[in-house]
Amino acid sequence: MVIIRFLNVFLIVGFEVIRLVLALCFHILFWKRLTLRSYFAKELPLICERLGGAFPKVGQILATRADLLPLDICEALSCLQDQVKALSPSTTKRILDKDTLSQNIQDVDFVPVASATIAQVHRGSRCDDSRQIALKVLRPNVQRTLESDCQIIQFFGQFIARLPAMQSIPVKEALKEASDILIGQTDFAREASNLKRLHALFSNSNDVLVPMLHEDLCTPEILVMEFIPGLRKLSDPALPEHIARQALTVGVRSLYSMIFKEGFIHCDMHPGNVLVAPDGRLVILDAGFMCQLDDSTRRSFAKFFLSIAFRDGSSAACIVRETAQCLPSNLNVRAFDDDITCLIKRVGGLRARDFQVAGFVGELFAIQHKHGIYGTNQFTLTILSLLVFEGVAKQRFPDLNFQQEAVPFVMAALAR
Ligand SMILES: Nc1ncnc2c1ncn2[C@@H]1O[C@H](COP(=O)(O)OP(=O)(O)O)[C@@H](O)[C@H]1O
Ligand SMILES: [Mg+2]
Repeated sequence: MVIIRFLNVFLIVGFEVIRLVLALCFHILFWKRLTLRSYFAKELPLICERLGGAFPKVGQILATRADLLPLDICEALSCLQDQVKALSPSTTKRILDKDTLSQNIQDVDFVPVASATIAQVHRGSRCDDSRQIALKVLRPNVQRTLESDCQIIQFFGQFIARLPAMQSIPVKEALKEASDILIGQTDFAREASNLKRLHALFSNSNDVLVPMLHEDLCTPEILVMEFIPGLRKLSDPALPEHIARQALTVGVRSLYSMIFKEGFIHCDMHPGNVLVAPDGRLVILDAGFMCQLDDSTRRSFAKFFLSIAFRDGSSAACIVRETAQCLPSNLNVRAFDDDITCLIKRVGGLRARDFQVAGFVGELFAIQHKHGIYGTNQFTLTILSLLVFEGVAKQRFPDLNFQQEAVPFVMAALAR
């Protein structure tokens, strides 16, 4: 299997290399400027789609990793969607029948509510009390397929990393990390325990709804939770403005609460995972990608936020250095601190409503790149979780005040 897939990928990549060489010849012949970087940025999403399997999904994950990849490549990859055909009703039925689960559920709609690379979601109900349930069914053999595709991706990544245009980019690390995140999402036992914890965090909230896990029905391949009918996207134009605004404000506060209060963060609050229930409550789904912060990272993050608010560039620089994975031996501390101070001063001068997490983070990562500093996973994922949700929020309400909403949470975290 792996060998056939490898050959298949090898042929497609070989074909792309020939296309690249021809494109270069064409451009040299006609004196046009073509850089390898710009060529990659344009062609990468198409190549990922052509390769299928884990490739579009790895591309999607990389699109959010502005800390590792240049913005032009992230932007190009962000258009990727995982287009997969839903499993046939007979296959889904076979998967459900394999388990004793089938004796406890009824009225399963074999047309999925949603279907993606890793899983698809069906609606059904419990036999004992007729409560409606959502069945998230893992695609058959998906873990093995993704693992072999990720191995192949990392194999080709070694060669891409050697290209002169890629020298300044940690290609191998980026691919390894994206692969780990992707394969982690096939671990339904972990997702189930994450969902249970997330549900408990918001169980007393009147504004946020996280589906309750039906733990007694879950299996390693099927996650069973409460079904929430009538979900609408935040971008749905039919959703009244005031409801969307309220839900988005609740979303920002929930995210800050997860970061500063709980240290347990949903890192994937994109429009498919953050929806609105018919009663206006914000619904948070998909606990497949959560990050646990240790206490010291949570405190450092709070201090980092505070230093931005007080325009204290040298403290911010110090925190970034202290929380980095490792510092290069030849780091010019003074130059690094100056660059961060300059950035913080500029950001501090903005009106709060003009502050964009994305712009700030893009510049922060660019400075880190320039000085060869990479943040720890926890620190980086926390920043990225904000970036993902800002994308969702600002699409509908560009003036949502991210900075101001953070203040009470930061203060509470530091006071504690
Ligand atoms: N508990 C639920 N109730 C209603 N719809 C759900 C539920 N869980 C998932 N869905 C629907 O299925 C989609 C995909 O679910 P999700 O858990 O995000 O899967 P994936 O990991 O493939 O992204 C969601 O965007 C939502 O439309
Ligand atoms: Mg999802």
